[in-house]
Amino acid sequence: MKIHVANHPLISHKLTVLRDETTPSPTFRQLTEEIVMLLAYEATRDVHVVPVDVKTPVAIAHGAQLAKPRPVVVPILRAGLGMLEGMVRLIPTAEVGFLGMVRDEKTLQASTYANRLPEDLTGRQCYILDPMLATGGTLIAAINYLLERGASDITAICIISSPEGIATLEKEYEGKNLPITLVTGALDEKLNEKGYIVPGLGDAGDRLYGVV
Ligand code: URA
Repeated sequence: MKIHVANHPLISHKLTVLRDETTPSPTFRQLTEEIVMLLAYEATRDVHVVPVDVKTPVAIAHGAQLAKPRPVVVPILRAGLGMLEGMVRLIPTAEVGFLGMVRDEKTLQASTYANRLPEDLTGRQCYILDPMLATGGTLIAAINYLLERGASDITAICIISSPEGIATLEKEYEGKNLPITLVTGALDEKLNEKGYIVPGLGDAGDRLYGVV
């Protein structure tokens, strides 16, 4: 498993405003999109392309275009939805699947309540969107779901990660030689007793969409 913590001043700047408890939802949503675009640039470094020629007004140029089958972007409902726009702006031709996962606030265990994904993901590159990698339970459940359907490689894009979540992920997949990558905007200090990332940004879903 590969882990990439983005170290970019623009991401740090935007993330600082995102964390601020006084940042209102519209600004939070806008910043989330912008951060995802920057993270997605890194996360798609190995996206499959095929060579293609185009005719410029001057000569033939040897270029590249996204290969088929198209990449699949999988936001984890609800908070991952806030990351979708930024991702599809970068890859407009990506297919989008949805996974609804919720964690029990007492046991912190993740369970799936909805899914809209192709049954067969053989040979597909998948990008999971989940803003907060906290305990790791939700992300592991989502990754396993995609692996069971044959995904050829899986990249998780998380805005903030906890050391505990990363350790759980590494333990789950260590020695298995699976094509899994995590791209994250920040590695925070720890999880608190309620499973929130410290300092984090609070509940990402609530900050995006309000408390419902
Ligand atoms: N989910 C969130 O939205 N925030 C956290 O800090 C942890 C999990």
